[in-house]
Formats: sequence, structure tokens, C-alpha cells
Amino acid sequence: MAGLRGWPSFPEELPEFDPGQAPATPQELFESWLFEAGEHVLAPHAVTLSTVDADGLPDARVVILKDVDATGWYVSTSADSPKAVQLRENPHAALTFFWPGRGRQVRLRGPVTTAAPEVSASDFSDRSPASKAESLIGHQSEVLENPADLLRAAEAAERQVRENPDVVPDSWTRYRVSPTAVEFWQASNDRRHVRLRYRRTGETWLPEHLWP
Ligand SMILES: Cc1cc2nc3c(=O)[nH]c(=O)nc-3n(C[C@H](O)[C@H](O)[C@H](O)COP(=O)(O)O)c2cc1C
Repeated sequence: MAGLRGWPSFPEELPEFDPGQAPATPQELFESWLFEAGEHVLAPHAVTLSTVDADGLPDARVVILKDVDATGWYVSTSADSPKAVQLRENPHAALTFFWPGRGRQVRLRGPVTTAAPEVSASDFSDRSPASKAESLIGHQSEVLENPADLLRAAEAAERQVRENPDVVPDSWTRYRVSPTAVEFWQASNDRRHVRLRYRRTGETWLPEHLWP
């Protein structure tokens, strides 16, 4: 394809990253990179969630990061969706953040656990009425035979939220990815890109500087 080579991957001005000064946990570094990215890029909390299906084949899609704590990174979706079916079959995932305007990538992988129903319910309750209605439409990733079916389902979902603002679908689920490794990648204009990987070793994290 013509022209692809001409596109720059990163801006001229890139942030500094000194792995020698990195904090003890990947959560702390992630939080500082996330909020820094939020000053420069749209949807810094959008993340590619990769899973594998029952045949061991990879699949990936963008979702929204809901939270991060000492135990992991959280995302939410319907338990009826293909990604959720894949996570039931094989509860492992990778998350990949890319903030082009900062020349930064963060990738992590590890086992996935499902939150308790009350945690998933509270995640749903925090959504705006429009987001609740969007999720209540259901049938995610099924073939849409007729656009009128979507319109009908969307109207029914909006009505449901209007009549019962506290509605929570049983299928809404919060998932936690508890990484065994988290890697921070910083582009450098001299092409000696800087990579720092934290590997989980028991209760602590081992930071390792990687070749680009
Ligand atoms: C920026 C962005 C954010 C998204 N956030 C979510 C999300 O938080 N949860 C979700 O289920 N789908 C989200 N989606 C839609 C998914 O990418 C995907 O199309 C959908 O979940 C179906 O995926 P599946 O068939 O692999 O289950 C988002 C898409 C984009 C582009």
C-alpha cells in the first residue's frame, strides 16, 4: 500500500522515561503514565483486551479500563458476549494500551477472575443512563438481521432504564486481569526505545530493563 511509510509513528517531542527512577510497583507507574496520557490523548483508558477462543485462536477488541488496584486491572462487559465466553473457556488475557501522542505502550498479561455479583452490579450502577441503556440492548456481536430490530431493542432498553433507574442485568460482569508481567515501552527519537518490564515474583515485582 502506497504512503504508509511516510506517516510518523510518534511526535517529535517525547516524554522522558528513566527506568532507574521507576516506582516499586507497575500500578504506580501505570497510574502516572495514564494520567499524563490523559492530558494529551483522547480516551487514554481505552485498552485492547486480547483473549483466546476454545480452539486456542487469538481474538482482541478495545474496551474501557474501569479501575486499577494492587491486585489487578479491571474491565467490564456482558457475560453473554464472545469475549466473556472466551474468558470462561480460558481465563487468561492480555491488555495493551497505546498512547501514540506520547510514544508509549503498556502491555500486561495474566489470569482473569470474575468479580462478585455485587461488585459487577455496582459497576453497572455507576454507568450513565445512556450507557446502561446501551448495555441493556443485549445480543452483543450477534448478527443483526434488520436495523429495525436494533431500534426496537434500543427503545425498550431506554424505557427500562427510565422506569427502573436501578436496573442491573444479571449478565453484567466486571473482570480483573491480575498480571504476571507488565511492560512499559517508551519511544525514543534515537530509536533506542526504552523498555521496563515488571515481573511478579511472589508478593513483589522484579523490574527488568529490556532490549528494544
Ligand atoms: C473506545 C471503545 C471502548 C469500548 N468499550 C467497551 C467496553 O467497555 N465493554 C464492551 O463490552 N465493549 C466495548 N467496546 C466494544 C468492543 O470493542 C467490542 O466491539 C464488543 O465488546 C464485542 O466484542 P466481542 O465480540 O469480542 O465480545 C468498546 C469499543 C471501543 C472502540
